[in-house]
Order: sequence, then C-alpha cells, then structure tokens
Amino acid sequence: MSTADPQQVLQKQLAAATALRWVRSGMRLGLGTGSTAAAFITLLGQAVRAGELRVEAVATSLASETLAREVGIPLLPPRRGLRLDLTIDGADELDDRLQLIKGGGGALLREKVVAAASDYLLIIADSSKHVAQLGRFPLPLEVVPFALPWVLDAVAKLGGAPELRLATANPAEPARSDQGNLLVDCHFGELPNPPELARQLEQIPGIVEHGLFLDLARAAVVAQADTARVLRP
Ligand code: 5RP
Repeated sequence: MSTADPQQVLQKQLAAATALRWVRSGMRLGLGTGSTAAAFITLLGQAVRAGELRVEAVATSLASETLAREVGIPLLPPRRGLRLDLTIDGADELDDRLQLIKGGGGALLREKVVAAASDYLLIIADSSKHVAQLGRFPLPLEVVPFALPWVLDAVAKLGGAPELRLATANPAEPARSDQGNLLVDCHFGELPNPPELARQLEQIPGIVEHGLFLDLARAAVVAQADTARVLRP
C-alpha cells in the first residue's frame, strides 16, 4: 500500500470527506479499518467535537477503536439486537458490481461481522482500488494457528499460492489479527468467479474468514483527481 503517494492520500481524504454526507445525527455507525477509514474517523471526530453530528459507533479493529476514542467518537460494544445504520470502510479492490477484496489491514473478520450487522455498507476508496476484475491484490484469509499447515495445503490445491503474512514491525514473526489468529495472503490471480471461490474457502476448516465481501456493499465513493464518483451495484 503506497500511502506515501500524495495523489492517493488526497483521493483518500476526498473519499472520506464525501462519505460524511451519508451520516445523520442519531445514527449508529460501523467504523472501518485502514488509512482511508482513518481519514473518515478523523473527519467524523471533528464534526462530533464541533457539535455538528451526534453518533455512536462500533469499531472494526483495535487501531480504529483507539483513533475513534482519541478524536472523541462515543463507542458502543457489540451486543445482542444491535443494528448499525451505516458502516463506512475502505477496500483493497472493488469492481463495478461492488464485489470487494478486503483484509489488507488484517481486520477482515471484524469488518465482515460489522458489515453484516449494518443496514448499509459504504465503501470509500481512491481510484487505484477500482478494478475491472478482482484478484490482482492477494486475497487475505484469517486462519486459526493450529490449522495453518492444512489450510496452506488446501489453498495451494485451489491454486491460491498462499503466503503467511509477516509482522511489519518484526518480520521474524507472523502477523496476528486482533483475535490472535494468523493471516495468509493468497495469490490466485484474476478471479473469474468470486462466489465459487468464496464457497470453496468456506469449506476449509481452520479458515475463520476470507476477504471476499460479496453482495455486502450498497454504494462506494471512489475518488479521482478532484472528483468523487458514487458507484452502486
Ligand atoms: C483492512 C481493510 C482496508 O479497508 C483495506 O486494506 C484498505 O486500506 P487503505 O484504506 O489503507 O488503503 O480491508 O482490513
């Protein structure tokens, strides 16, 4: 992820600012993970502190939770019966039908849980994320540590060239999700049939979640140089 690219940073900011238009006072929100979601959380915090918006939110990662607290967004713990009005999250890839690859930031499990608990999932992204066909970005999996060798075998058999993700801070150690699970990035190449691949991955014991988010997003804000386009499936 080249967040250092100034154009990309501006586009992420524009997508995040545009997404504020979806937010109304009184809403319960899901807060995504990653640099684009972080830009949104920061802007939302400014509006909350200024008294322009009154919201409560569930965060999809410890990092987003910490940021939300810092910028003054009241947080809700998960509980039975809780529905979220709107979740705003980033993506690693999205196509015209708003099928997504997510999990580059390792938060795919909580992101999918929160998306499923939401009435509306809005994706915010810079233009590099919008692709004709999913698959250039390696598909992330969250995997129970005990099951890792067998999951690697099963994914290789499906043609996914699995790669254990290493911790950025200490590449001698594997990366861990907020749940303490391992992350595996799978190089399938272009995905002609994402629903079929999702079905196959869901049958492999030990895969807690995969990064294919299908039929979940209701809209996406994709920012280009100085315009933000809204896509709907
Ligand atoms: C985290 C994600 C992120 O939404 C995805 O990686 C996009 O990140 P960024 O906004 O930093 O490009 O799925 O698990």
